[in-house]
Amino acid sequence: MSPIDLTSYRHSLSLEGKAALITGGAQGIGRAITLALAAQGARVAVVDNNHASAEDLAAQVNGTIALPTELGSQAAAQAVVKKAGEHFGRLNVVIHNAAYFPLTALAAITPEILGTTLDVNLATAFWLVQAAIPWFQKQGKGRKLITSSVTGPRVAYPGLAHYAASKAGVNGFIRAAALELAPQGSTSEHAPSAGCCADPKSAQRWASHSPAREYWPPSGYHNKGISARG
Ligand SMILES: NC(=O)c1ccc[n+]([C@@H]2O[C@H](COP(=O)([O-])OP(=O)(O)OC[C@H]3O[C@@H](n4cnc5c(N)ncnc54)[C@H](O)[C@@H]3O)[C@@H](O)[C@H]2O)c1
Repeated sequence: MSPIDLTSYRHSLSLEGKAALITGGAQGIGRAITLALAAQGARVAVVDNNHASAEDLAAQVNGTIALPTELGSQAAAQAVVKKAGEHFGRLNVVIHNAAYFPLTALAAITPEILGTTLDVNLATAFWLVQAAIPWFQKQGKGRKLITSSVTGPRVAYPGLAHYAASKAGVNGFIRAAALELAPQGSTSEHAPSAGCCADPKSAQRWASHSPAREYWPPSGYHNKGISARG
């Protein structure tokens, strides 16, 4: 498998010597973030339940490892933080980007759908950050980034009540974690993510519900999407 050309992902920020973990890093926005981190020199652990995509990406990007994992529990989050930290000997950046969002009418949502949505999107943010605290403390600093959404905090979309609730919760969590962990040198960001789809038709549909009325292709996300400090 030939290496991916990272030229278009490069900018002036150097992450040489840093190690990052990203969930949902094998596809879409997460893949673009993985490539952007690697282009800046970071070593990256790609955590994803799409085993083949995670392993293909790791094979194509130097310094990147795949950690195929089904997220949704405290144990899974603890295990990936442990594996990434021990593999790299450090953990500077933890990014929770994986999300579960089956389009389901409110009347049809089951305890399983709601439970998985909250476990993957919201609780896993909590468990990952919690598991990373000892690494951040050891290093004197660390960075956490959670991909949120405009859906929930700002707009709504029929069929996504469960997802909207999880992302509104993410915003509350990241503010609380930012405040509590800042004295330890751990800084936070959340990416509001106002519509980013590889498929142009879906993108236009999503953009029509976005306050900004725009969408960003995954390849441009790392420049535009990561903006709001939490
Ligand atoms: N695409 C958009 O328009 C948009 C808009 C707002 C917010 N977001 C947010 O951006 C993030 C990425 O979105 P995307 O469109 O790139 O998604 P995507 O579906 O293209 O990619 C998500 C990745 O997460 C992985 N994943 C999902 N559930 C998992 C689990 N339980 N365990 C491990 N891996 C899992 C998937 O395999 C996939 O590789 C999500 O948090 C999403 O809520 C996206």
